[in-house]
Amino acid sequence: MAIKNVVLVGADGKLGPAILHALLDGGFKVTVFKRASSKSPSNYPDGVSVAKITDDFPVDELVKALHGQDAIVVTTAGSQVDVQLRLAEAGAKVGIQRFIPADFGSCDSSMAKVQELVPLYKQKTEVRDYLTDLANKNDKFAWTAIVCGHFFDWSPEFLHIWPKEKRGDILDDGETKFSTSTLAQVGRATAAVLKKPDETINKVVYVQSFCTSQNELAKAFEKASGSKFNWSNIKSEEFEREQKPLADKGSAEATEELVWILGALYSNWEDRDTFAMKLLGLENEDLDAAVQKVLSQ
Ligand SMILES: NC(=O)c1ccc[n+]([C@@H]2O[C@H](COP(=O)([O-])OP(=O)(O)OC[C@H]3O[C@@H](n4cnc5c(N)ncnc54)[C@H](OP(=O)(O)O)[C@@H]3O)[C@@H](O)[C@H]2O)c1
Repeated sequence: MAIKNVVLVGADGKLGPAILHALLDGGFKVTVFKRASSKSPSNYPDGVSVAKITDDFPVDELVKALHGQDAIVVTTAGSQVDVQLRLAEAGAKVGIQRFIPADFGSCDSSMAKVQELVPLYKQKTEVRDYLTDLANKNDKFAWTAIVCGHFFDWSPEFLHIWPKEKRGDILDDGETKFSTSTLAQVGRATAAVLKKPDETINKVVYVQSFCTSQNELAKAFEKASGSKFNWSNIKSEEFEREQKPLADKGSAEATEELVWILGALYSNWEDRDTFAMKLLGLENEDLDAAVQKVLSQ
């Protein structure tokens, strides 16, 4: 049966608003689930319903709140594992057709290199394993995880580019290609998955706005801003060796540096079996236009 009613959890984060926008654009009826103590404003577009749930999202309360819903999309931080497991358990109990977890990775969380460098990514595979188990045990329940590469337009600093200071970092020779997605493209991908539930059932799908290299990005930022940048070269192996012990001691900054490396050097989705651009009816975006937009934000 076609998916119509969608619950979104995490509508007020970095990614949530883009997904909400795309779901509405796709004609879905959206209900935002949020914690009773949430302080975020809930000033969503007309037609969006809001359900306040006791802070720790108890399964029995979720079961009641999910009545009549067809799908759940979670855009909380990926580290919010427990809340995802409870939502999935409740979803399976009420016969939710599709669960999209807070995956949306910069990199492929099932790669050994990724799990070794940033153990946090194991949590994403644990959620996928749980969803697989639920799907095996419940006829109606199914899941799809979306992996999109680095968010391109979240913040250029995340990609080690500082436009105001006209400088940036480039790993190794800067030629490695990587997939990266705008938040709007991730939103479109999510809506498209819900429109094609059969084709995307119980799998990880890979999407992008473009597959580019750091050298191409450097040129695009210089072209769009009309000025030369100062690019520093970073040797990825050395940088990784420096950052890993700091990340292991709990430095969020060092963890983010390792994620940057993984997304920039190990995340080309174009040759993946489940690279889903065509399947989902998505097209690559124009790099120059996307850079221009980032600069104007
Ligand atoms: N590919 C990339 O470059 C990249 C970068 C960043 C994130 N991501 C991924 O994108 C997804 C979304 O991440 P994000 O950074 O956008 O998340 P985020 O900003 O941390 O999400 C915040 C949202 O989650 C809600 N929330 C937080 N804890 C909750 C809980 N316990 N129960 C219910 N709601 C809760 C918040 O509600 P309130 O408003 O009520 O506080 C808010 O709406 C994740 O899968 C993440 O791994 C990918």
